[in-house]
Amino acid sequence: MEYINDLQVAEKAMDIADTPQSERFGFELYYPKVSRSPEIQKIYGLISKVARSNATVLIQGETGSGKELIAGVIQSQSLRAKNPYVTVNCAALPEQLLESELFGHEKGAFTGAYTTHIGKFEQADGGTLFLDEIGDMHPSTQAKILRVLQNQSFTRVGGQKTINVDVRVITATNKDLWEEMEAGRFRADLFYRLNVVTLHVPPLRERREDILLLADYFRKRFAAEMKKNVGPFSEETKQLLYNHSWPGNIRELRNLIERAVLVVNSNQDIMPKDLAMTGKDYFAAGGRDRRTEERKSVTLPTLDLMELERHAITIALMRSKWVQKDAAQLLGISPRVLNYKIAQHKISHDSWRRNAV
Ligand SMILES: Nc1ncnc2c1ncn2[C@@H]1O[C@H](COP(=O)(O)OP(=O)(O)O)[C@@H](O)[C@H]1O
Ligand SMILES: [Mg+2]
Repeated sequence: MEYINDLQVAEKAMDIADTPQSERFGFELYYPKVSRSPEIQKIYGLISKVARSNATVLIQGETGSGKELIAGVIQSQSLRAKNPYVTVNCAALPEQLLESELFGHEKGAFTGAYTTHIGKFEQADGGTLFLDEIGDMHPSTQAKILRVLQNQSFTRVGGQKTINVDVRVITATNKDLWEEMEAGRFRADLFYRLNVVTLHVPPLRERREDILLLADYFRKRFAAEMKKNVGPFSEETKQLLYNHSWPGNIRELRNLIERAVLVVNSNQDIMPKDLAMTGKDYFAAGGRDRRTEERKSVTLPTLDLMELERHAITIALMRSKWVQKDAAQLLGISPRVLNYKIAQHKISHDSWRRNAV
């Protein structure tokens, strides 16, 4: 499958990207795969190898990094593409409900079970079941999942009959399953069963080359959706987008751009003030609009030391209008050290390039 790193192709893809599966035809362009990150390309390379097998796939990555989208791509490239694709968010339901959701229940299995319920495994028969947020699943449900994976059979809650299914399972989690396993919260046997093919989706801040590409893709996509003429991002807006740490990853970017396209005046460039109610403060607050809360308490967007450093440097630079000497003073470090760290974090600003010799 071709990888989209070209906006014109992305524009074509955008029309059908969010079309419900029942209305889709062909399987090439359903999911917008806007990226020029080598790591994402590697993932797509792997996908084309594993998609046509029945291997269980585990997708790990932060929330909003594109795991669900990748699961969809696998399904669309698999031999089961025309068969049911059923998704379940394992974090959304309490244990008992999740079990009846997954395996179904017989009439009278518990109070409130007035009718027989067909579970997701049965619904997905012949196709693919996507178990999202599997790291949040209760250990007793984990044991049941393991059994289905091993035997391709199960019983409905409150039922006796063994039901056989042919289901390919794709799972995703934003947790480190290895850590969860070591802490005793995730079953080792299930972990090893799921860990046959693992795809690690890097967070957006680790593939900054994708930020403006995606931002432009969403800008065009939402402008088309809203039938609105929208100018490009101003240089300052680009700098803010590029340097932000994106704790909510692509979902955060998407929501931000959707809102910007909504509020910007027609035919105008997108300026920092259009990015969020509070403009730059949104970025200074790590992507959360905390202008009022911030006065009361300082909330750290992350505890990752390198990220915090980058964050502090970006804020200091913004406050000092990108004059490095002033930012260094704010940070209590020498301009030399700041310069080194700026290079290390690949922070950039247009005014520096203009002044460069
Ligand atoms: N490479 C990409 N190109 C375009 N849109 C993307 C890409 N990856 C993710 N998205 C979009 O970003 C949003 C979040 O992705 P999603 O797969 O739901 O993340 P996750 O499951 O990891 O939380 C979705 O709207 C999705 O369509
Ligand atoms: Mg998700």
